[in-house]
Amino acid sequence: MSHLNIGVPGAREYYPMNEPAIGTHLSSYAWLQSGEQPELFKPIEIKGVTFKNRIFVSPMCQYSSADGHATDWHLVHIGGFATRGVGAICVEATSVVPEGRISPEDAGLWTDSQIAPLKRIVEFSHSQGTKIGIQLAHAGRKASTYAPWIKDRAGHGTSWVAQENENGWPNNVYGPSAIPWSETYPSPKAATEQDLQYIEDAFAAATKRCHEIGFDFIEVHGAHGYLIHEFVSPLSNTRTDQYGGSLENRLRFPTRILERIRSEWKDKPLFVRISATDWADGPEKSEDGTWLQWGIEQSNAWVDKLLTLGVIDLLDVSSGGNWAKQKISPVAGGNIEHGYQVPFAEAIKKAHPSLIVGAVGTITDPMIAESYLRDGKADVVFLARELLRNPHWAIKAAKALGSEAKIANQYERAW
Ligand SMILES: Cc1cc2nc3c(=O)[nH]c(=O)nc-3n(C[C@H](O)[C@H](O)[C@H](O)COP(=O)(O)O)c2cc1C
Repeated sequence: MSHLNIGVPGAREYYPMNEPAIGTHLSSYAWLQSGEQPELFKPIEIKGVTFKNRIFVSPMCQYSSADGHATDWHLVHIGGFATRGVGAICVEATSVVPEGRISPEDAGLWTDSQIAPLKRIVEFSHSQGTKIGIQLAHAGRKASTYAPWIKDRAGHGTSWVAQENENGWPNNVYGPSAIPWSETYPSPKAATEQDLQYIEDAFAAATKRCHEIGFDFIEVHGAHGYLIHEFVSPLSNTRTDQYGGSLENRLRFPTRILERIRSEWKDKPLFVRISATDWADGPEKSEDGTWLQWGIEQSNAWVDKLLTLGVIDLLDVSSGGNWAKQKISPVAGGNIEHGYQVPFAEAIKKAHPSLIVGAVGTITDPMIAESYLRDGKADVVFLARELLRNPHWAIKAAKALGSEAKIANQYERAW
């Protein structure tokens, strides 16, 4: 019998085949005595796509794109997750138009030349048995700003606007209304009906490119004070036309984008990330029924609508980013506590038990993460910073939970 080191079939070049896929729970391999399958490692199927576990990489901007094109930084950054056991990777906020980028170095998918570098990353991820999707975005009034470390150097109170000589586009920033996010941000124009059609068409064109690239899912960025969140929140949307005022009107354009994406994306998994609250002072609604800020009641109403229209398969529940004076609570000792956004995920899951819900936000402890799923508060967890600190979190989590997940053959000797 020969002992060939088999390569991944169909891969661009030779890499050893990992079987089962890295990050798969090894409960079916009795010889490993890996114990019971933790909730975090139960595969989940979404619209015919099976994710090997429920630990998802949250989208993370890298400010490392060349005119919106993914670079080798992205291949290495994302490739590192693909080889270390997560169930899925969501590629960073990727703008559907150039002026929808947060910073000049953000990712984009507005032109066909952006397809090839992403395709290479997706094919690599697939060769490692890891599902991968992309977050489609438009930054709205928060566009044309510096990358975070450049902001830090500029300091608070100074302008964070990337000017034209810094590759920015401060005179082409728009949102639902002409209200800047803060005095350090660009002064936006109110989008016209024509602008809205152009944005909708750009989301549809980017979705077509996602098909060609081979992404397993799309996540629409409806959170953190970017364009879609700006439309749904009464704090940033003061329009008096059919896109502003009543809740129905504020939801109109964001919902239209999702319907358009669904018609292009067909029956593939469509995720939506929302901010479940603006974290502004005071209640979501006044006593006379006026909506004062975005919150959980309107989030639930929007989810009802999206479910009825069949334009959501997973809701990724985040918060904040649309109100410069936001006060996030509860705060423990100055640090945002573990799973501080989980109560929002839980509330939405409770109201919509059939919806697949993702929890995100300071999730670092495997036991606590496991408890969120076991207690039915969410179906999957998204991790960002903890995975930057510890890309092997999934493998370590399996061990912390008294079981084993498949480690890359190439890394076995480390464990
Ligand atoms: C470097 C970095 C970049 C981020 N970029 C994005 C992004 O592109 N889209 C998004 O929705 N959230 C983004 N976020 C937020 C994360 O996805 C996540 O929601 C947040 O960091 C809370 O999760 P954590 O406590 O596990 O880091 C980013 C966070 C970090 C740290």
